[in-house]
Amino acid sequence: MFLKKKPAVTVDARLKHIAFIMDGNGRWAKKRSMPREYGHISGAKTFKTIIRYCGDIGIRMITVYAFSTENWKRPKEEVDAILKLLSDYIDDAEASMDENNIRLVFLGDKSIFPPELRDKIDHVENISKDKELLLNIALNYGGRAEITHACNTLMASGRTSVCEEDLSAAMYTSHCPDPDLIVRTGGDKRISNFLLWQAAYAELYFTDTLWPDLKPAEIDKIVADFYGRKRRFGGI
Ligand code: IPE
Ligand code: IPE
Ligand code: MG
Repeated sequence: MFLKKKPAVTVDARLKHIAFIMDGNGRWAKKRSMPREYGHISGAKTFKTIIRYCGDIGIRMITVYAFSTENWKRPKEEVDAILKLLSDYIDDAEASMDENNIRLVFLGDKSIFPPELRDKIDHVENISKDKELLLNIALNYGGRAEITHACNTLMASGRTSVCEEDLSAAMYTSHCPDPDLIVRTGGDKRISNFLLWQAAYAELYFTDTLWPDLKPAEIDKIVADFYGRKRRFGGI
């Protein structure tokens, strides 16, 4: 991928894994007197731009919060529109598999989805598994559901006591390190059940920018802000 201009930041080993709570699609549409679905369509375009840009500046692992275990509370038309956009994204990713370097992994309970979508997810995960840039898509994901699922998995394997490493290994994210930085767009300062276990020492960045408005230039600013922070992990 060629960048039109040199990015303002270069990424090093301090920022291996970035995560996004992609919030604000509905408000973005409302501001334009358009249905919420229109905001999700625009958000899906931003998602592609931001993923590509993060890869271009050298971030090797990205996690996005696409649909939470609580988002089922929304009207069926909106849920269907979001799931259709995701299904379209998987089709695109599959079609362009040779030109991109993205490994797709879905975080969350897939059993709830119709068999066609489940098969599609399994297939794209499988064919992309040797690619270098990791993109985790949290779909029907909730941090509490994940921790509960991990406990049940460990108990089913006969464990009566567990350590932190056991739990980390039983999470949907067992294939990658914890995120270094979690960014939430849309102005709200909360986690909304995202990566509860993994966020223990993540840096948090909140921006008022609505997700569809997020641009690569703001990623430069966010990354620069991250590099200005001192992570102590409880030390001094
Ligand atoms: C985030 O945008 C996308 C999903 C939750 C799928 P929202 O749809 O929550 O947008 P707002 O927060 O209502 O503006
Ligand atoms: C978080 O956004 C979930 C995703 C971005 C997928 P929400 O819009 O669902 O969060 P709340 O309801 O404002 O906490
Ligand atoms: Mg929201």
